[in-house]
Amino acid sequence: MRGKLVVGNWKMNGGLVANAALLGEISTGFTRTDGRELAVCVPYPYLMQAQAALSSTGVAWGAQDVSEHAAGAFTGEVSAGMLVEFGCRYAIVGHSERRQYFCDSDAVVAAKAATALATGIIPIVCVGETLGERDAGATEAVVLRQLGAVLETVGEDASRMVVAYEPVWAIGTGRTATPTEAQAVHATLRARLAKSGAAEVPLLYGGSVKADNARALFEMADIDGGLIGGASLKSTEFLAIARA
Ligand code: PGA
Repeated sequence: MRGKLVVGNWKMNGGLVANAALLGEISTGFTRTDGRELAVCVPYPYLMQAQAALSSTGVAWGAQDVSEHAAGAFTGEVSAGMLVEFGCRYAIVGHSERRQYFCDSDAVVAAKAATALATGIIPIVCVGETLGERDAGATEAVVLRQLGAVLETVGEDASRMVVAYEPVWAIGTGRTATPTEAQAVHATLRARLAKSGAAEVPLLYGGSVKADNARALFEMADIDGGLIGGASLKSTEFLAIARA
């Protein structure tokens, strides 16, 4: 059976004092059991703090991006090897904010996923359509194009990644896909993953997940957990989502 995974995406939020409180509350409030995992993806400068605070707890941590390059003259970038040194289990790749504001193309996202996998980091590959694309009936075509680019690049390693479906129109807007809408896209993604021998990959839903809508989403057949933005910054809310 596929395990359940909830991942917090702090985005560009945090500070040493606030992080210490949040990491402490999350780690004392969560007990890891078989098939039930919790993680936080923090800004790069806080990876060392996350490592110190979470190392002997059941909560994993990771980054929100990773370079597709191993080392060298790439000012401002952070390599997968560096993430390994700070104990990262995960790196988000292809978040819609990266695609939109930092020009991460399908090819770049695929290269980042491949580099992460080759270095022992689990990429959380994000896919999702804009409202315009949904209204034009292009949801399936968009997410299959985004996922396909990664699958063609990583080959057999696909079974070691995580995929997150995040409709762009639901991120930070308070508007969530209904469980049925989300499940329909997840079923499409699951079928595509199965064709690449990766049917068991955890498929997360993201976009305005809150304590009060998490359970209905996570009960759907192909939704294995969530990628949580705003609600991951409050321990009570994040832990309630984890319990859901
Ligand atoms: P949100 O963000 O939960 O604040 O909508 C989700 C995400 O962007 O990963």
